[in-house]
Amino acid sequence: MFEQLEMAPPDAILGLTEAFKKDPKPNKINLGVGVYKDAQGGTPVLECVKQAEQRLLEDEKSKSYLPIPGAPEYGIEVRTLLFGAAHELVAGGAAVTAHTPGGTGALRVAADFIKRCNPAARVWLSDPTWENHAAVFNAAGIETKAYPYYDQSGKRLAFDAMTDALSRVPEGDVVLLHACCHNPSGMDLDAEQWREVARLAGQRHFLPLVDFAYQGLAEGLEEDAAGVRALYRAGFEMVVCSSFSKNFGLYNERVGALTIVGGDATAAEKAFSHIKRCIRTNYSNPPAHGGQIVLTVLRNPELRGLWAREVAAMRDRINGMRALFVKTLKAKGIKEDFSFITRQRGMFSFSGLSREQVALLRDEYAIYIVGSGRINVAGMTEGNMDRLCEAIASVL
Ligand code: LMR
Repeated sequence: MFEQLEMAPPDAILGLTEAFKKDPKPNKINLGVGVYKDAQGGTPVLECVKQAEQRLLEDEKSKSYLPIPGAPEYGIEVRTLLFGAAHELVAGGAAVTAHTPGGTGALRVAADFIKRCNPAARVWLSDPTWENHAAVFNAAGIETKAYPYYDQSGKRLAFDAMTDALSRVPEGDVVLLHACCHNPSGMDLDAEQWREVARLAGQRHFLPLVDFAYQGLAEGLEEDAAGVRALYRAGFEMVVCSSFSKNFGLYNERVGALTIVGGDATAAEKAFSHIKRCIRTNYSNPPAHGGQIVLTVLRNPELRGLWAREVAAMRDRINGMRALFVKTLKAKGIKEDFSFITRQRGMFSFSGLSREQVALLRDEYAIYIVGSGRINVAGMTEGNMDRLCEAIASVL
C-alpha cells in the first residue's frame, strides 16, 4: 500500500522550518512560521504562563478526562475575551464554546460541523489567506471559493471588490473573515467596514466564520475584538475559531476554542450536540494542560493583568521592528517605498517579494520566508536586521 505512493508536498509554512533546521549555513534567519521572537531571538515562555503552571503543579488533583467540549468555565473566559465581560453571550445561552487543540483544531471541527449541517455549503476565503485554510476545509470535503481582499499593486485593502463579491455569496454559504492581523496581508478592516460586512451577512444570510488567531497583537485585546462584536446581532448565527498559540505563546500546547453563536439558546444547544459528535469522532476530548493555563491566567486578576502587559510588550516590539525594517531598507539604498509595512498589523508583513526573490533569499542567504512573500516581522531583531535588509536589497 505504501510503496506505490508519491511523496506529498512539504507544508508551505511548517515545511520551511524543517528545511531551515537542516540548513548548515551560519547566520540563517527563519522568518517563515508565525512565531514570536524577543529581542534576543528566543521564544520564551510568558511569565504569566510560568506562574500559572506553578499553581497548576501544586493544585492539580487529577489527570482524568475533560468533557468532550472541555470545561464550561473555559468557555466563559473565551466568550469574555470575544465579547467583553458584560455581554449577554458570556454566561452562555445563545453561545456555546468548545476547547479545541489550537486554532487549527477549531477550524477543522468547524469544517466537520458545517459539512454535517449543510453538505452543500461552500466556504469563501479571502484572497490571499492563510496557506492552510483551503486544505483544512477541503479535508472535510468542503469546496472553497475566494473573495478579493488585498490589492497587491496598490498595497491596500480591496474593500469595494470584497463587498461586491460578498453581496453575491449564496444564502447558506460560509464566509471566513480574519478578526485582526490578517494573515498574510496584515491589513485589517476598520470599524465601518466591519459594520458593512455585518450588514451584508444579514442581507445575504451567509454564515460568518471568524478566524481569531492574534487577539491583542494588532491594537489591543479589546480593540481587536471589534470585528467579532460588530458581527454579533441577536438572532444571527456566527462561528468563531480562537487560538491562544500567539497571544499566550502556547504554540506547542495546542490550545484554542470554537465558539458557536446560535439564533437562540435552543439552536445553540442543538448545534453543540453536533459539535460534540464531531469532536468525539476526531480526538475525543481536548488535552487539558494548555487550556488550564489559559483558564488560570484569565480567572486571576493579577495574572490577567500581567498577561495583558506581556501581550502589549509583544505588540510594541513587533511595531518597533516594522519601523526599523522600513528605515533599514531605505538606509540600504532601496528606492521602492516600503512604508506600507508600517500600516500592516500583527506578525506578518506582506512584502510584495516574488516567489523567485523568495527562493533567492533562501538559497543564497539562508533567509526563510513564505513563498507568497509573507515575512514574519515578529522574527526580526536588531541583530538580524542589517543582514536581512542587505539581502533583500540584493534580490530586488
Ligand atoms: C503561521 O501562519 O505561520 C502560523 O499560523 C503557524 C501555522 O500553523 O501555519
